[in-house]
Amino acid sequence: MIDVLIGLQWGDEGKGKIVDFLADQYDIICRFQGGPNAGHTIYVDGKKVVLHTIPSGIFREGVQNVIGNGVVIDPVTLKKEIERIKQLGIHVEERLLIARKAHLILPSHRYLDGASEKAKGEKKIGSTLRGIGPTYMDKTGRNGLRIGDLESGDFASKYAELKSKHENLAKIYPQFDFEWNEDEWFESIEYLKKYPFTNCEYYLNQQLAQGKKILAEGAQGVMLDIDYGTYPFVTSSNTITAGVCTGLGIAPSRIGDVIGISKAYCTRVGGGPFPTELFDEYGKRLQTLGGEFGATTGRPRRCGWLDLVQLKYSIMINGVTKIALTKSDVMDHFEQITVAHQYQMNGKTSDELPYDLCQKNYKPIYQSFNGWQTQLLPGMDLPDQFLHYISYLEEQIQVPISFVSVGPERNQLIVR
Ligand code: GDP
Ligand code: IMO
Ligand code: MG
Repeated sequence: MIDVLIGLQWGDEGKGKIVDFLADQYDIICRFQGGPNAGHTIYVDGKKVVLHTIPSGIFREGVQNVIGNGVVIDPVTLKKEIERIKQLGIHVEERLLIARKAHLILPSHRYLDGASEKAKGEKKIGSTLRGIGPTYMDKTGRNGLRIGDLESGDFASKYAELKSKHENLAKIYPQFDFEWNEDEWFESIEYLKKYPFTNCEYYLNQQLAQGKKILAEGAQGVMLDIDYGTYPFVTSSNTITAGVCTGLGIAPSRIGDVIGISKAYCTRVGGGPFPTELFDEYGKRLQTLGGEFGATTGRPRRCGWLDLVQLKYSIMINGVTKIALTKSDVMDHFEQITVAHQYQMNGKTSDELPYDLCQKNYKPIYQSFNGWQTQLLPGMDLPDQFLHYISYLEEQIQVPISFVSVGPERNQLIVR
């Protein structure tokens, strides 16, 4: 079976930390969608590492890591990531496979991403400017270049053809300031050729047939999903469980546990609706105590209370079987802990998310609990207020909270 781990909110739920913790229970960890828009933070012997394209199992001996066909790859970022991990003494070449069907992010995709965002002005998505949208557009538009094309004799001409298409497309946008570093891109391509490419659908299905355990690591979060997120303020891939099947070539019947990661509050980086966002002193406290700054872009993350209407929606779409509640330690400091449990819409209460969260015709209804105001530590007798809060959440979401994360390091985790 293949287990799945996904973010249930707007990304940055702490997926990297939980994958790194769980990785020794698996033989293979795979990324199945997204690209270097992701930033998954891991602490290795006290040193912080942010992974953008490489799966978070890379630090575990004996674990194979696969960049699946649903991922989009920027060779420059990937090379830098590999070098950083090598500096930590890891033999990356023995632990990493790259799917031939994964698409390549060209410098001109990054140009188009920036130019398109600039042209949108106030309506911009707040993209990470990593070229994600334009690369997936070329994939579905049937123009894209793939890792496997690097093995063909005419890669240079395929590249030139696509770049020229992009140059024509760029004419619809005002000029955009951008550093074209094509030399670095081609150097990085040559560097990546030293790594094994794989037909990931065959490889993974053969490994499953041999009884190997696989974990698929999601990037972004459900509310950034291209179909089920807060469209158009979303990313360009399917971040949900269903994306595992298309992103790795695995049948739905092979999916086992679905581990959903949720912060004990909510954050969002970039534009778009965020029903429980706080603009007051509590929002500031969440941001400061949680150190809420983007792992990829460094932008401050918007903060708000936990939203159970949103969380239940994510659990439903993904078939979540276990929850990891992260950043619970941030709540240690709060006298009162607040969650939204329903929405008020058209004079009625509702348990469902409206079609378009951008139309602000709804209001979250909140409930508050006494905080525990103690530092939560693994192995301790957990305070009553905390246990009461957890049972309330479990009753609402009808899924067990199997892990409570109480700090960024691997072992700062309560396993229930
Ligand atoms: P990801 O994209 O889902 O992997 O999450 P990010 O790495 O972008 O952001 C999560 C941030 O929270 C990182 O800085 C982590 O080191 C940190 N983190 C993860 N779990 C916890 C936790 O339980 N408590 C605290 N205080 N920080 C955490
Ligand atoms: P991880 O995997 C948080 C957001 C961007 C923007 C929108 C579209 O670390 O959780 P894109 O660059 O994909 O075109 O941006 O999605 N976004 C993320 N927010 N965490 C992420 O990844 C994100 N990846 C994209 O801020 O609002
Ligand atoms: Mg992140």
